[in-house]
Amino acid sequence: METSGSRVAAEPSTELTMSTKVLSISSTAPEADVIARAARVLRSGGLVAFPTETVYGLGAVALNPTAVARIFAAKGRPGDNPLIVHVADATDAERLVGAWPDAAARLTERFWPGPLTLVLPKSRTVPDIVTAGGPTVAVRVPAHPVALALLRAIGLPIAAPSANRSTCLSPTRAEHVLRDLDGRIELVLDAGPTSGGLESTVLDLTTKPPRLLRPGLLPPAEIKAVLGTITRVARGTAEAQEPLPSPGMMARHYAPNARLETVSDDGWGRVQFLCRSGQKVGWLTFATRAEQSLGGLICMVMPRDPIAYAAQLYAVLHALDDHGVERIVAAIPPDTEEWLAVRDRLRRAAFVP
Ligand code: TXA
Ligand code: MG
Repeated sequence: METSGSRVAAEPSTELTMSTKVLSISSTAPEADVIARAARVLRSGGLVAFPTETVYGLGAVALNPTAVARIFAAKGRPGDNPLIVHVADATDAERLVGAWPDAAARLTERFWPGPLTLVLPKSRTVPDIVTAGGPTVAVRVPAHPVALALLRAIGLPIAAPSANRSTCLSPTRAEHVLRDLDGRIELVLDAGPTSGGLESTVLDLTTKPPRLLRPGLLPPAEIKAVLGTITRVARGTAEAQEPLPSPGMMARHYAPNARLETVSDDGWGRVQFLCRSGQKVGWLTFATRAEQSLGGLICMVMPRDPIAYAAQLYAVLHALDDHGVERIVAAIPPDTEEWLAVRDRLRRAAFVP
């Protein structure tokens, strides 16, 4: 099925230069003709949004600096924030890096394809624009059949950040991609909702011990089981004055339109206060008893399991934005390592500069 994105973006029409095609594709057995068409668009320097097992990515051929520059323009992404390069397998990743330490071999054997991104010294093959001029490159092999089919068909590395405007919510459905990027990119491959729902874990292998730059879908415990010790970028680094180890750690990120606040109790008191002051409120809660009777309240009962919570988080926040809520109150999950990524995203969504 072929449709055209229909959302009218609020930005000046001069920026919206093209009509964005949406092609449906099977998430389990991607149709070869659709993949071939997407590969053609990429080869000619175009931008294609495609599903990964985490979130939808916005792809361009990583070896084509002009195409990669269009990713930054379409997203409104600062040029100092490097992109993840997606490849079909570990052998393709090795071509992009200047060193392939034993840790990389062990981790990729265990976790690729999957939601682990490794930061390694870059080789000269990788254009500077991809790494924001830096000496390292981030690489990963995504686990989604559509992403893998595309990478295999094109036989080239694909640079792909999440397919949203910079600092906004990441997309877990094609509709979310269109909301931000309709008219700015050539093609969206629509394979339905992504299963993971939250971005990959980013691990820096250029430091000893390796350093967790962004908590993500792969829990730290799994990495430690392979590597032993890893360190974590201290909480609050992004708010501090020191240079950012990973520019994507900007304090406000992954944010819905509505103002989001986290609360350490279940939030019911805060929700009642906001509703009674006449505001339309979204509530992310673990409470099972239904308190939804309050006027202006949309209640989202979230799973108590971190993987299930992560899978729903962005979709729930997108849905609350669709409902036009003015405020979102989120009960913060427990301060344990398995909740690290979800807590990180909630804190960044809540950050007010
Ligand atoms: O799950 C994901 O990782 C998704 C899908 C599409 O693969 N991609 C994604 O890309 O989340 P993006 O660009 O939204 O986030 C990439 C993160 C950013 O925090 C960026 O700063 C960091 O990875 N990063 C990329 N290259 C880096 C490098 N060379 N050194 C340190 N951090 C890097
Ligand atoms: Mg992103």
